[in-house]
Amino acid sequence: MDKNKSVKVFAPASIGNVSCGFDVLGLAVDSPGDEVLLSFNDSAQVTIAAIIGDDGRLPLEANKNTAGVAVIEFLKSINKTQGVEITLYKNLPLGSGMGSSAASAVAAVVAINHLMGSPMKREDLLPFVMEAERIACGSAHADNAAPSLLGGLILIRENHPLDIISIPTPEELFCVLVHPHVEVKTKDARSVLKATIPLKDGIKQWANTAALVAGMMKKDYALIGRSLVDVVAEPLRSDLIPGFEKVKKAALQNGALGCGISGSGPTIFCLCQGKENATRAGNAIQLEFESLRLQSEIYISEVNRKGAYIID
Ligand code: HSE
Repeated sequence: MDKNKSVKVFAPASIGNVSCGFDVLGLAVDSPGDEVLLSFNDSAQVTIAAIIGDDGRLPLEANKNTAGVAVIEFLKSINKTQGVEITLYKNLPLGSGMGSSAASAVAAVVAINHLMGSPMKREDLLPFVMEAERIACGSAHADNAAPSLLGGLILIRENHPLDIISIPTPEELFCVLVHPHVEVKTKDARSVLKATIPLKDGIKQWANTAALVAGMMKKDYALIGRSLVDVVAEPLRSDLIPGFEKVKKAALQNGALGCGISGSGPTIFCLCQGKENATRAGNAIQLEFESLRLQSEIYISEVNRKGAYIID
């Protein structure tokens, strides 16, 4: 084994929940994403050499950083002691609801698996990313980890034991992410949720989740739009996002099939048929935020269908 070898991996952002699929659906976007450069050394330790782009906000201790935790857990599981140095290029905003913590961990674990000679299949890397998610936000949900790792729309049928299903998405599906400059921590956005929901809400939610999956598989854009409804988390979380109702209305009037909160927010996502609709809807959302004096970034992209990948 070449002791000093290294690899750089890209892992995409993802839309957790996709409205109705709270904690069970996630969709990977083509860009943006985080990058990890991982190198071997003789230290027998996992260390973070540098994090670029986080303004010094993320921990440099490997056991507190999602990229570090994923690598440590992976090495533990294959019973190897290996000196590893991680450089994290943090392109995704923190606390944005774009699957930022998962993307760093995914890039890191794909990199270490590659450098170790790929002892594990892609799918089998998921538990290490989920453990990293647990460290980062107190909950080992897979709805960002799985799509960032594997690409596409992923349904998590069961966490223990893991049972995940890849759902095909129609070719012309475009994703819009608009990230307003307010921070919402996943922990806080989860704490506003109720432990129980009324049966009538449960019925609506699972009807929409099933219909969204059917819409994707049948390439029925109108059905996709009708199903992007969340009666469980959105009503409780929307107060954390200034102007949410106006923003959503503007998106729906300007070409979005549906619109909601990406993961735990504050990023707004919409799904659109074609790039033109996506641009129109995204611009309308940004204008609404501007009217509230809120700056935002916009990302328009196709669905990422291959998950994380090696850059060099
Ligand atoms: N499903 C998670 C939540 C995603 O909504 O809390 C966090 O990005």
